[in-house]
Amino acid sequence: MDIPLPKETLLEQTTFTGTVNDLLINVEGADLKLIPTTTGIVSTVENKEGTYDWNKTSEDFYFHQDGSHLMAKPEYVALLCKHPGDGKAVTAFTDARKIYTSLVKEFGYDFLHSLLAVYIDKDRNLYKRPFIEKNHNNEFYINTFHYIEPDINKIKEEDRRIFNLILPKLLAAYEQLQNEHIFHRHKFSKNDLVIFRNQECHHSKTGMSPDDKERFLYRIWFSGNI
Ligand SMILES: [Fe+2]
Repeated sequence: MDIPLPKETLLEQTTFTGTVNDLLINVEGADLKLIPTTTGIVSTVENKEGTYDWNKTSEDFYFHQDGSHLMAKPEYVALLCKHPGDGKAVTAFTDARKIYTSLVKEFGYDFLHSLLAVYIDKDRNLYKRPFIEKNHNNEFYINTFHYIEPDINKIKEEDRRIFNLILPKLLAAYEQLQNEHIFHRHKFSKNDLVIFRNQECHHSKTGMSPDDKERFLYRIWFSGNI
């Protein structure tokens, strides 16, 4: 089967009745480069003790990119559902290019491009990336973060002085825009295969039941054709 790669779109969805190994064979056959997740070539989304991926309080799992702080960033993320669980979980996808376009109107090019998106991983390492990056189509998108700081090599004198005044406004606008630019809400069914462009498309899980032991998805990461 052809891997439905979202090139012009941000997300493609199909039905894949094979196993995750069948999926890996298809990915390799399509000359796509697999990138190891933080827990191996294939990782799982399931309700396991101590897992990083399950929000036990069932509150929102906020919009994020997968592994984009890593040296080898996944360009695409594929999620293959083998059990939808109780069906309450919703995965939402928002367009980080549109968030940029809206933010730049309010906060200006220079300010947005003088910021760093700081990420803290589970081993408490810090990663700093530009807040704004470009995709293969030369479209700007924003990166997700745990906090934002000024890039001392780029921040303008006048912006440095008012950074602390602007930042709360930026964060409030960002949160609102994430919701405004949601383009897809997915409730997984068995054998759903969802592939999305990880950088330009931020995703979040909401509504999970903390006692849902059944929900089970496979996750793989890969980059475009090699
Ligand atoms: Fe994720």
